[in-house]
Formats: sequence, structure tokens, C-alpha cells
Amino acid sequence: MTQDEMKEEVAKSALTYVVEGSIVGVGTGSTANKFIDALATIKDTIKGTVASSEATAERLRGHGIPVFELNDALTQVKKLSVYIDGADEFDPQKNLTKGGGGALTREKIVAAGSEKFICIVDESKQVEFLGAFPLPIEVIPMAEALVMSIANNLGGNAQVRDGFTTDNGNIIIDVTGLTIKDARKLEDDLNEVPGVVTNGIFSHQGADIVLMATPNGVVTID
Ligand code: A5P
Repeated sequence: MTQDEMKEEVAKSALTYVVEGSIVGVGTGSTANKFIDALATIKDTIKGTVASSEATAERLRGHGIPVFELNDALTQVKKLSVYIDGADEFDPQKNLTKGGGGALTREKIVAAGSEKFICIVDESKQVEFLGAFPLPIEVIPMAEALVMSIANNLGGNAQVRDGFTTDNGNIIIDVTGLTIKDARKLEDDLNEVPGVVTNGIFSHQGADIVLMATPNGVVTID
């Protein structure tokens, strides 16, 4: 089974977590795209979606699936029923690294506005400690030099993502070479730096359930 087929399998398996008649939070990335395509097959059973990026909103609309602004959705319901998204890495505590596609801030907001986060990954994303995948930090452009110097003191190597602007008009700094033993603390510490919008560690908004595709089928980790 190819990685692409595994992504498709796990995306389809997430349909069982879609709550009928509800507004569903939808993530960003190649696995989330497979989920969007699968969601299109049951689109008449849901009220609509909230997208975590412009790219996701466009794909949802392309399938004729209604897309609400989160602010509007949360006037109708206290929280979205479920948020379904991929990840770049997950550890045994279901902490995640996200933001390889640069949508980390909106992803974290939609995850925080949802009852449950179902994370859909293939087995290549499973790690003991986060950090093998570069940790993205979304930064207000004015704070680039300040955050670069702090990020370079974390023990890894920080680099501005070349030619990339987020949906919020900010830059991304990627930090490579970290072994993150206390994900919660690093998430908090980085978010306290002025100019940091958010970072790609999802510990506060970690997954409730990870659905992991393997060549032998989808494994549920809860
Ligand atoms: C987007 O910003 C990311 O957080 C993605 O969710 C993550 O990079 C996983 O993407 P893939 O499913 O493409 O690996």
C-alpha cells in the first residue's frame, strides 16, 4: 500500500466521527484534502464546515460543501462537534507538531473551538519525541530578528521559511534539530515571546484520538 493510499484509507475512516447535522472543523494538508474528498460523499448529512485555511475553504466549496466563518458558527453552537486534521508528527501523549503547510494558527483556533480533535495520519508520523520534523513558529514580520535569536537558542537551527506568507499575513520560522521532551512547556514558552502568534506544538490542543494508517489497516489510538 502506498503512502497516498494509506492517507486515503485513514481519511475515509474518520467519517465515522462526523456528527450528523453538525458543523465540522476541517484541517489543512494532503491528508485533510483526502478527508474533504471523503466528506463530499456524505455532505448532505452535515450542516457545514469551518475551514482552517483558505486552501481548505476553496476545496470544500469546490465540492459544494458549505463553509462558515468560525465566529458565525460559534453563534449557532457552543463548539464545533469535531475537528479533523492531519499532523506532521505525534508522540505517545498525542502531542502534535503541525504547520508544515503553514496553517498552524488557524488550525489551532479551529481545534480549540471544537469538542474533539481527531487526528488522521499515516504511520510515518509516529515519533517518541517531537522535533524530528522542523517546528514551525508563526511570527509577526516586525519580530523576525527577535524571534530568530530566541529560536536559535533552543538548541536547534532556526530559518525563515523562504518566500512564504501565512493566511494571516505573517512569516514562519522553522526550527530544525530539536528533541522536545516537554512539549507543553516549549509550547507555552514560545507563545510567551512577543511577536509570536503561535507555534506548531499542539499540546494544549493535542489530539483526542489519533487514527493511524498502516499497511495492515487503520489503528485507533485513544
Ligand atoms: C498544515 O499546516 C499542517 O499542519 C498539516 O496538517 C500537516 O502538515 C500534515 O500535512 P500532511 O497531511 O500533508 O502530511
